Amino acid sequence: MSNAYSVSIVGPGALGCLFAGKLAKAGFRVHLIDYKQERVNRLIKNGIEIIEGDKSEQYHIHVNTHIPTMQDLVIVLVKSYSTANLILPPDTPILTLQNGLGNVEILCKKTGSENILAGITTEASTLIEEGKVRHTASGTTILGSWTTASVKEPKEILERAGFYVEVTNSPSQVIWEKTAINAGINPLTAILNIPNGMLLKIREARELLRELVIEASKVAGTEGYRFSRSLVEVAEEVCEKTADNISSMLQDIRAGKRTEIDAISGEIVRRGTSAFLTTPRTKVVYQLIRSLEQREIA
Ligand code: PAF
Repeated sequence: MSNAYSVSIVGPGALGCLFAGKLAKAGFRVHLIDYKQERVNRLIKNGIEIIEGDKSEQYHIHVNTHIPTMQDLVIVLVKSYSTANLILPPDTPILTLQNGLGNVEILCKKTGSENILAGITTEASTLIEEGKVRHTASGTTILGSWTTASVKEPKEILERAGFYVEVTNSPSQVIWEKTAINAGINPLTAILNIPNGMLLKIREARELLRELVIEASKVAGTEGYRFSRSLVEVAEEVCEKTADNISSMLQDIRAGKRTEIDAISGEIVRRGTSAFLTTPRTKVVYQLIRSLEQREIA
């Protein structure tokens, strides 16, 4: 594979900067896309920095407000509430690795399902400041074709950049699985202001974590998804493995930013309601996070 491939990364957050930096390091022509012109100017001037252990590397890459045409791959890593605002180039493979439910459907509407690949990543990255991230743990990136897009090149591009990649035939199942886990860990860590691992140490919090993941799994069940492993066990394992991590939702709350609660708990409540299934605990944490967001903004 030639390194002359052009890849756009949409969203200059913790994961967006990590993916952009790693791809640039591997020699790809990388464009980082951000809708805010002033931040684009600063990112062009200052570059991006990735810290891993006690090593730090700086990359000067192209940064634009719009995705250029003729891209070999576009990786969408914007917050879920920004998906609807994206302008996508035609006939280009688009890979979403975003959190929550509903992103793929919005992207399909914009560009046609034949261009869409979807999945998740468990790479852990923290935004220290604009353009500067700490890669706290390597993970797995799982991707699959939504309908007919080829997975071969996207997989090779990511592997070439050092990511561990798995291919799935059912990206929607993988997205549901991650969303159910996020529906437990993210709001609870954000409300309690604790790192992921503490959820296992507080008896009542652990109980609530289990109940939230069970509610989410039941809603997934109404859409036909069955999981080979208990998602409660998976969620507890994630808390253990990422014990010191500050979840993305807690990072947002601490920074006074809007969270992705709508695409996680909000979607679970909405889809549960459509299936005549109540999700009382999910609804309460949804209401609490929405309240926290408004308290932060007020
Ligand atoms: O959103 C996050 O922070 C992560 O998906 C997870 C798994 C909760 C770990 O922090």
